[in-house]
Amino acid sequence: MADTSKIAACWDALKALPVPDLRRLFADEPARLADHVIEESGLRFDFSKTHLTAQSLGSFIDLAQATDFAGRRAAMFAGEAINVTEGRAVEHTAERGEGKAESVATAAGHKARMRTLVDVIEAGALGDIRHVLHVGIGGSALGPDLLIDALARAGERYDVAIVSNVDGVALEEAMDRFDPHRTLLVIASKTFTTTETMLNANSAIDWMTQAGVDDPYGQVIALTAAPDKAIEWGVDETRILGFSESVGGRYSLWSSIGFPAALALGWDGFEALLEGAAAMDRHFRHADLMFNAPLRAAFIDQYYARVMGCQTRAVFAYDERLRLLPAYLQQLEMESNGKAVKADGTPVDGPTAAITWGGVGTDAQHAVFQLLHQGTHVVPVEFVAVTEAGDTLDPAHHQTLLVNCFGQGAALMQGRENPADPARAYPGNRPSTTILIDALTPHALGALIAFYEHRTFANGILMEINSFDQFGVELGKEIAKSIEKNGAQGFDASTMALIERALG
Ligand code: F6P
Repeated sequence: MADTSKIAACWDALKALPVPDLRRLFADEPARLADHVIEESGLRFDFSKTHLTAQSLGSFIDLAQATDFAGRRAAMFAGEAINVTEGRAVEHTAERGEGKAESVATAAGHKARMRTLVDVIEAGALGDIRHVLHVGIGGSALGPDLLIDALARAGERYDVAIVSNVDGVALEEAMDRFDPHRTLLVIASKTFTTTETMLNANSAIDWMTQAGVDDPYGQVIALTAAPDKAIEWGVDETRILGFSESVGGRYSLWSSIGFPAALALGWDGFEALLEGAAAMDRHFRHADLMFNAPLRAAFIDQYYARVMGCQTRAVFAYDERLRLLPAYLQQLEMESNGKAVKADGTPVDGPTAAITWGGVGTDAQHAVFQLLHQGTHVVPVEFVAVTEAGDTLDPAHHQTLLVNCFGQGAALMQGRENPADPARAYPGNRPSTTILIDALTPHALGALIAFYEHRTFANGILMEINSFDQFGVELGKEIAKSIEKNGAQGFDASTMALIERALG
């Protein structure tokens, strides 16, 4: 049980602590590196260039205890209905073999079917499939897209297009590249009702039909937690890959939603991804609170959001293969923790999720880093880099990438005084975290993504919010539907004028 008065006292204690100067911390705390670096599954989490001290860390451990972090974590792995507003369990970890035995067995059953279908397609039972057109949006697109872009760039097995936007330009681009006779249409939607996805799916079927494909529906695979709706739409039962309602959309890449990644990586690769995530699950579950990487990262997130008042956090992937990571994290973190009420419906006690943004290094250095170094905002920065190069060119490429990554972290922290020329001064004392991955294998990427999932959950626990619903997205969808149905009437003058001007 959470202890409300103790929680308030922990926040008060944290806010009362003096904000240290990063540049002094390594001298003041001789064991800083050992205390603030955590290694797990080939990932090095270096949290040492943040303002967390032994004292604030102690207060955060108290906060974790006061919010019943251990109890909430155990409840998730036990399959309890911790998504209270929707009365659902939260069981994405069961997809990688960690959680309630029954749910793990159900997920394993789904995986067995998924594997069979991967084999069947590889064996040519659905024709000479070379192209995979995956339509889905949000959690039904961002995860698979990240996996494929990071791990299957060569695209030797299949040419995959992940089409999410309802803007027909996106679908047309894929259609222009693909041969409809050799295309597998994968419809990914947990609910099988999402407007964008269903419109894209219908247009893809029209495209196949117009091209003379005999049985377009015979080239469709549905990935969904609503199989009845997929059947009603026209997908054959044997080509529906299900997953459980208790797997949230933005946590679903491990389930059948990861099917295009399983095709692109091969089954062994997909399995290694799940194993990497499971290793991180075990770390999150069993590591001491002091050295628990997702929890430590959540302490840091909370410190900057609630104690220092930073409104954003930035993630820079110093690896082209991880260029989609910031977009993936935007949904994971902001859809999970961008809330104004706690799980019990009462107002939150302070800011919730920071705005997640970011980009790719070194490009971002030549665009947004000016503000990070000299702007008036303090933005906690996260660098994600990989020791082993992804390219086979002159090693100078990867070396330059890494020295820039490490150099930026050092520069943000150190700064440089210049009393004679303030425009050329750097305030320094700016925080960063570096996640260094030994090699970008499926196992390591699985561990990295699971780290982010658990960090998001840990943040939710510390803020006492339910990270697993997303009612904030509903109102806009409803209003769009109403405009579609009833036109401009009843809206404000601005909205009416826009509708009339663009839609007539
Ligand atoms: O609108 C938000 C959302 O519900 C996300 O949470 C989800 O990932 C996405 O839409 C897609 O939903 P579905 O998989 O049901 O099509």
